[in-house]
Amino acid sequence: MSPASAPHPPGPRALPVLGSVYYYAKDPLGFLERCVREYGDVVYVEFLGQPTFTLQRPEDIEHVLVTRHQHYIKDRVQRRLLGGRLLGNGLLTSEGEDWLHQRRLMQPAFHRQRLAAYSRVMVDQARRQLASWKDGEVRDLYADMTRLTLGIVIQSLFGLELEGEGGVVGPALGQVMEHFTKLQSLVLPDWVPTPSARRYRAAVARLDAFVSGLVRRRREVGGDTGDLLSLLLEARYEDGSRMSDERIRDEVLTLALAGHETTSINLAFCFHLLASHPEAEAALHRELDAVLGGREPTVEDLSALHYTESVVKESLRLYPPAWSISREALDEDEIAGWRVPAGAMVVMNPWTVHRDARLFEEPEAFRPERWAGGLEQRLPRFAWFPFGGGPRLCIGSSFALMESRLVLAMVAQRFRFERVPGDEVELLASITLRPKHGVKVRLRARH
Ligand code: HEM
Repeated sequence: MSPASAPHPPGPRALPVLGSVYYYAKDPLGFLERCVREYGDVVYVEFLGQPTFTLQRPEDIEHVLVTRHQHYIKDRVQRRLLGGRLLGNGLLTSEGEDWLHQRRLMQPAFHRQRLAAYSRVMVDQARRQLASWKDGEVRDLYADMTRLTLGIVIQSLFGLELEGEGGVVGPALGQVMEHFTKLQSLVLPDWVPTPSARRYRAAVARLDAFVSGLVRRRREVGGDTGDLLSLLLEARYEDGSRMSDERIRDEVLTLALAGHETTSINLAFCFHLLASHPEAEAALHRELDAVLGGREPTVEDLSALHYTESVVKESLRLYPPAWSISREALDEDEIAGWRVPAGAMVVMNPWTVHRDARLFEEPEAFRPERWAGGLEQRLPRFAWFPFGGGPRLCIGSSFALMESRLVLAMVAQRFRFERVPGDEVELLASITLRPKHGVKVRLRARH
């Protein structure tokens, strides 16, 4: 079939009413892989009557995220799950002029000088967490990294410690993410009183109480305490006005959620991949020993840690934490010759694109060295896009890349990893791509 002779691109046959949602929900990654393999670069799928197009070619993804970005918004599933009660009108979920004002206001929080200060928080938190790790023990490094990245976010955002007042945030965010792994969260509104939705609403209420108490006290004290919250409190719009408390609440929760879940996943998969590839792990050790000689990394060392960066990038390629990015068409468009009607959903999956053999040699293999010699510059723009792209590019991408490299350097200087026989890493693709039962490895002290 071609655009000239068919009403829409080829795709899997849909069940009555449900469309393909049943097959998708059973195994989202496998379903999308089959779509690309069997139907090609633009696939038509129906989910509960919602026409959906999946795109595999980098140029088509660029068309949606960059060239015609003004004609697309975040899709309705994301708007309902993440917006509303949870993140409200925060940066991740707002649109149009409203989003643009916020983005301009928040961008300085991610400037280079600020990042240098956060880098010290990252190294400090990693050192403290590593102090209790012991040679020979088996640890779930996903659980460890979730705790560590949360500690980093809590300190850099709010200037608080995870053990103290900030302790409420971790379990509450955990419950929120747990709710999103349930199929019901995709198909039912969150006011339907299922046990999971009840826990979810209670968790959001605890987060609300925490943030509003924090903002109130900070407003009373005033001044710049060097953390991100004080930057938001001091920031002014072009007309001189300040952000409302409600808006600050939305942004704080957006950054807390978006800023730790994804980086913990990236780090956990780095460790899993290193435990499975001793030769790559040895290359990483050689670089860390040569550049750092046993001392702690700083932001100035990062430009010399090429292999470390390649491990992070290759892990983001194979296990993109944001494995699927989607939009809704505001008006009719044409993609690769196909008519895309207004209201259709367009889905772009780093998961399938990053594993496309036309873009990456031996795409399933973990080969950090492929990134040497400027691969990123040679690739088409949206062949590797773990942080999305265009105006809605992840605002925390530099923060995240710095955090992953610094933490990886801190951990791999002290320990090497061995796989635990029989322990396979299973994937759970919900809003993010998580290791379902964690990443368990045996630690071996290096020096
Ligand atoms: C490995 C780590 C991370 C990954 C893979 C990641 C991925 C992404 C992706 C793909 C998007 C775009 C979503 C879309 O276009 O629909 C995004 C947006 C965003 N991310 Fe990240 N992210 C990471 C870390 C962070 C961190 C550390 C922060 C904050 C400290 C953060 C905050 C945000 C925010 C606020 C947005 C919305 C930006 C906007 O729309 O203007 N992310 N992220």
